[in-house]
Amino acid sequence: MNRNIAIDGPAGAGKSTIAKRVAQQLQLIYVDTGAMYRAMGIYFHRLGIDPTDEPAISQAVDGAEVSIEYRDGAQQVILNGENVTGLLRTEEAGRMASRCSVYAAVRTKMVQLQQSLAARTAVIMDGRDIGTVVLPDALLKIYLTASVSERARRRYLELTEKGEACDPAEIEQGIRARDEQDMNRPIGPLRQAEDAVLVDASDLGIDEVVEVILGLYEKARREKGV
Ligand code: DC
Repeated sequence: MNRNIAIDGPAGAGKSTIAKRVAQQLQLIYVDTGAMYRAMGIYFHRLGIDPTDEPAISQAVDGAEVSIEYRDGAQQVILNGENVTGLLRTEEAGRMASRCSVYAAVRTKMVQLQQSLAARTAVIMDGRDIGTVVLPDALLKIYLTASVSERARRRYLELTEKGEACDPAEIEQGIRARDEQDMNRPIGPLRQAEDAVLVDASDLGIDEVVEVILGLYEKARREKGV
């Protein structure tokens, strides 16, 4: 039995912050799969491919070599030999990733890469289809969510702290659009796996969510004898 944790949930629910903390506590390798889709999005964008052009995307996919490295424990995403980690966290990269990640050719490639990472080492992986498609046998599956207004409020604070000008209504609209896109695609849509535990973080702080997950993990290990 593996020791892997799968965390799925909508944009802005706090998956990566929480997963990083849990990874440190449990000595698991954290894999941010959204970053891998973001790198693919950048690749298509640089080629000037329209995200609605599925044939062009499917054809170009083979030319993208995405790999993951760790520097001082932090995930680095390498796209065709270039470290693109610093370019991934913009709203634009997130939108592009969401649009390009609907296609079978992109998803097949990313899922294979993610499964091969998990075959080498125990991981905590976050994304949209981790519990349902990538790691269906994970020891613990979490579906981490929060209300749209709370996710928008957090994103607004994050951006203003970074000194970026932004409009709260536009942020909320962007989150709704991303939910719509990620939940309604035919392949690997965001949904809660049947055996995932729902954690609604609307009224919980980071420490509280981490504690909940650590407790669930302990319980799962005891029950499964790992
Ligand atoms: O988690 P994130 O916001 O960095 O992800 C960016 C986009 O990538 C997300 O809107 C949809 C896509 N994605 C996906 O389709 N499957 C995953 N496992 C992770 C991300």
